[in-house]
Amino acid sequence: MTLIRLPGLIDPHVHLRDPGATHKEDFTTGTKAALAGGFTAVLDMPNNLGDPTVSPDALARKADVARGRLLCDVGFFYGATPSNISTFTQVAAKVFGLKLYLDHTTGDLKIEDLETIREIMLAWPQEKPICVHAEDRTVAVVLGLLPSVGRQVHFCHVSEKVEIELIRNAKERGLPVTCEVAPHHLFLTEGDVPRLAGFGVMKPPLRRRADVDALWANLDAIDMIATDHAPHTLDEKTGDNPPFGVPGLETALPLMLTAVHEGRLSLDRLVEMMYIAPARLFGLPTQPDTYIEVDNARRWQIEAAKLRTRSAWTPFDGMSVVGAVLSVVLRGREAIRNGEVLAEPGWGGVIEPEAVDTE
Ligand code: NCD
Ligand code: ZN
Ligand code: ZN
Ligand code: ZN
Repeated sequence: MTLIRLPGLIDPHVHLRDPGATHKEDFTTGTKAALAGGFTAVLDMPNNLGDPTVSPDALARKADVARGRLLCDVGFFYGATPSNISTFTQVAAKVFGLKLYLDHTTGDLKIEDLETIREIMLAWPQEKPICVHAEDRTVAVVLGLLPSVGRQVHFCHVSEKVEIELIRNAKERGLPVTCEVAPHHLFLTEGDVPRLAGFGVMKPPLRRRADVDALWANLDAIDMIATDHAPHTLDEKTGDNPPFGVPGLETALPLMLTAVHEGRLSLDRLVEMMYIAPARLFGLPTQPDTYIEVDNARRWQIEAAKLRTRSAWTPFDGMSVVGAVLSVVLRGREAIRNGEVLAEPGWGGVIEPEAVDTE
């Protein structure tokens, strides 16, 4: 056994489905899954079904529902729509960033009109992050707008060779862009889709081997790992029209530790991608006396039945990984011991950002 201590990890992109679709996940099951995966803080996306986080009232409702139900800390993003630009200044200080959907995915927040996209990018406070769901051509739309809107943008779940190459090039030209990659785009390809069926359906989709190889080859241009934890029920995913998304909170760290074990990245780089970079970009408050302990030599098999997420399935079922979370300490209290969850609802809180460093 090789016990190592790491900071409590930060996942800057999760969908906890609460309120609106708590049959898929809720604040309690989602934050339990987060802790089990080594995350002590997560940032929740605004595409809630039925009650998207696109008004000051919806944001207040979400925070009210969350309070008292969280096992780890949760912060929120605000969703952009063509009609809520005037509310930006009211909510900006309370959320970790604005989310802008440029392609179709779960929810109904896609924005098509170029002029509206530009207005949104100009209206959201300069020093606060904008996260974009952009795939393929819409990555170029955002990059094309950047010089004229003159602001920072964060690309969610980058999945293609051309995308990471364009983002790398933008960085080299000094444009203020950052990006994240989800583990499923690093460890699965479109070749897995026939085997995975509905479990292989997500946005962006699983890509070609050449895309996956390009992500690994450009790892130094990837700022952070984000799970894009997007739970749906087993029935939904095995039905006729499986919705987009896969859970990821409990498999991300073991997969990334496996990559460390295989020499694909260093442990320092893992910590940078799963703690330092998201903390810095989004301005997460520090959690005192908070850390996780992992056994980075333990080989085990991912088992869907053992997951804490309400969705209780995973595209990584049966995969052999090296590296397991043994304990999690949150603000001096043992939240996980020997893999068992001791934390209770109320141990986590709704967090708001500190002043952000946009460099
Ligand atoms: C996400 C969801 O279900 O909320 N789905 C997904 O496939 N990634 C939405 C998203 O992040 O695009
Ligand atoms: Zn997305
Ligand atoms: Zn997402
Ligand atoms: Zn080995």
